[in-house]
Amino acid sequence: MNQTEVCNVSIIGMGKLGASMAAGMASRGCNVICVDVDRRAVDAVNDGHAPIQETGLEEMIRANRERIHATLNYAEAVLGSDISFVIVPTPSDEYGAFSTAYVSKAFAEIGRVLSNKAGYHVVVLTSTVLPGATRQILLPILERTSGKRCGTDFGLCYSPEFIALGTVIRDFLNPDFYLVGEYDKRSGDLLESVNRRVALNQARSKRMSIENAELAKIAINGYVTLKISYANMLSDICEKLPGGDIDVVSDALGMDSRIGRKYLTGGFGFGGPCFPRDNLALGFIGEKLGADCSILRANDAFNHSISQRAITKLEGFFGKGQNVAVLGLAYKPQSHVIEESPGIFLCRVLADSGYRVMGYDPLANESARSTLGERVLIVDEIQDCLRDAEVVIITTQDAKFEALMPEDYLGNNGSVTVVDFWRLVSKKLEGYPGIRYVPIGRCIDDDAAVTALARIWATD
Ligand SMILES: NC(=O)c1ccc[n+]([C@@H]2O[C@H](COP(=O)([O-])OP(=O)(O)OC[C@H]3O[C@@H](n4cnc5c(N)ncnc54)[C@H](O)[C@@H]3O)[C@@H](O)[C@H]2O)c1
Repeated sequence: MNQTEVCNVSIIGMGKLGASMAAGMASRGCNVICVDVDRRAVDAVNDGHAPIQETGLEEMIRANRERIHATLNYAEAVLGSDISFVIVPTPSDEYGAFSTAYVSKAFAEIGRVLSNKAGYHVVVLTSTVLPGATRQILLPILERTSGKRCGTDFGLCYSPEFIALGTVIRDFLNPDFYLVGEYDKRSGDLLESVNRRVALNQARSKRMSIENAELAKIAINGYVTLKISYANMLSDICEKLPGGDIDVVSDALGMDSRIGRKYLTGGFGFGGPCFPRDNLALGFIGEKLGADCSILRANDAFNHSISQRAITKLEGFFGKGQNVAVLGLAYKPQSHVIEESPGIFLCRVLADSGYRVMGYDPLANESARSTLGERVLIVDEIQDCLRDAEVVIITTQDAKFEALMPEDYLGNNGSVTVVDFWRLVSKKLEGYPGIRYVPIGRCIDDDAAVTALARIWATD
């Protein structure tokens, strides 16, 4: 499909990923029909608004209104397009596997419409599923409800996206590569033609079997989480080494072309809706298949221990009942998502331990408020959060926190302790009068570190 050919796509599920995909595709000239079971999402898109919060989404939907239409009606979407992308939830269950309940419903709806469709149609599953789910569970649903044959009457692909919340549109339009799991060549060819049209960066497709693509998706996320944990482990070591500095060490590791610098910054572990669960899911399916996946279980346990160890680290810097400000409530900057967020964890634990806790986040205040209830005061102005704080904890690398001046951190007080998990404001705050700056991941007591190291060498 070249730029002049008509590109009619349907997007099933207008959530955090689907809505941005729809807008991104429309921005590249595709005609997009979106389906959702949530009438508010449908109305929002048809009124030119973003159904969810994501960087640039509202503007992109507004700018491409003539090419985006939303509906509750599957028939309108499937009959009006050549290819359907399914991006509905696949929540984790108690064992770490992904539920196919929502995807099964969506596939059944698509199949029923396909039974009345004359032309060829490709169904692309974008939702994250476990290896085997597409062919074993979902393909039979399509064949049963449509009364047609995959490979003859319709095509099927599994093709997940690699995006980060907060930069979904940018990532979607500029992927490193397209992961294309194809039932057959014809299905993959049609998907590849859409990808070529949509990508701004001429990203290439890596085409393979559906099962290999299902594994590759969660394996990539699992690998990235290992890298994150490795950096956090080194961060702990640096804190105890004279002159230790995780950023110096990470920069060195990153210069090795076998390793690379991305996702190697010591911080606060991995959270959010994808990394933790993809890591567990890989372990689940791997063990079911007889592989030793203990490395993934260890990674999950290590990641959870970071929060507990953070509390222990913080204890030394707090006085009983002090006013504590937590900056960063989402699991990462530029996101409203608080799932597995360190900021929320800290707020909870500190409030339960008798501290007066205030929280602030540029995007996640609303969800934080409804989760934390009355035990933590969430404020909408960052200055209100800092005014009377005796201890400030920075949990995410948000540009807004970086832009603050030392006086902002001091608030009304003559002195303040700032604990910075990402060393975000070290240049501004280190050595500033009245500010005790605590960069997690760096040694802040060289004398104690020298003594401890000398003791190890003396005994060993
Ligand atoms: N959010 C991410 O960062 C991300 C990244 C990569 C992969 N994924 C995967 O993408 C999938 C979707 O994730 P999300 O974060 O966009 O979910 P989400 O919960 O934000 O959105 C899902 C949308 O699907 C709609 N929906 C549910 N059932 C439906 C149905 N039968 N028909 C039509 N619409 C339906 C919901 O109303 C909602 O709008 C998941 O499998 C997830 O693992 C998400």
